[in-house]
Amino acid sequence: MSTNTHVAETYSAKTQKFFRKRLKDLHARFASQLRGEAELVQKHGGGAKDVYEVYGDREMRAFETDSCEGLRGGEVQQISLREVRDAYLEPVGKAIEQLRKDVDRPLRVLEVGCGNATNLMLLNQRFPGVAFSGIDIAEGRIAEGRKYWGERLTSVELAQASATDLSLFADKSFDLVYSVCALEQIPYSLGDAVREMVRLADRRIVCVEPVFEFGNEAQRLYNVVSDQVRTLLPELVRQCTTVERHGLLPTLHNPLNPVGLLVATP
Ligand SMILES: C[S@@+](CC[C@H](N)C(=O)[O-])C[C@H]1O[C@@H](n2cnc3c(N)ncnc32)[C@H](O)[C@@H]1O
Repeated sequence: MSTNTHVAETYSAKTQKFFRKRLKDLHARFASQLRGEAELVQKHGGGAKDVYEVYGDREMRAFETDSCEGLRGGEVQQISLREVRDAYLEPVGKAIEQLRKDVDRPLRVLEVGCGNATNLMLLNQRFPGVAFSGIDIAEGRIAEGRKYWGERLTSVELAQASATDLSLFADKSFDLVYSVCALEQIPYSLGDAVREMVRLADRRIVCVEPVFEFGNEAQRLYNVVSDQVRTLLPELVRQCTTVERHGLLPTLHNPLNPVGLLVATP
């Protein structure tokens, strides 16, 4: 039975009119808030694998030269894509620095949903001696990254796999497991992806992802319409021993879709 039939059968004409008016108002509000975001919704919504398989090297080229309108220190300004990425990676770098003090051997670090491995390339340059690995569901993206970054990725291990099944790695294979805007794309099997991260991480998990609870109204609408994850924080709280840091990142490439930070002990 459709909602409309249900409403028609159950409510008086006056009440039906009330519901129809509220529904129309809501549609108008959603549409105006999401106008301009439509392209992003297409890009980041369902079917991520197919979209990303054919991305090519444009994102990597843009990363080296372009800037975007973004939020810095509470102000919308023009920011280089390099600076945005550095800001997203700052908590991952901090975790690596901390773990290097605690662990008396080369650190092992995994990025889940690494895409074209731009983050891994930057971290690999900054932290020689750390053993970096990355997985992504889109084989084509990994191949593009390998080709584009060349020697800058030499010691980095990359593999095609889904975050929801990382059986290619043994338990506690890594000291740190992190993700950047990747878990956001796994709305229906997030629990499996987090379970794998908890299984593989010996010491720390860092997620740089949109977090529904920290979002403004526009972001929540965006998350719903683009069918992105809405349950990351509760899922980490449920599966990890502790979630010790959580909040919004101060530098953002898209103020309408702010990115949060969650740091957890598996
Ligand atoms: C927005 S991109 C971010 C890539 C990278 N983390 C970065 O910051 O550049 C999201 C990535 O998640 C990957 N992805 C989506 N679903 C996945 C899954 N189930 N397992 C592994 N990777 C997945 C996509 O293929 C894509 O490369």
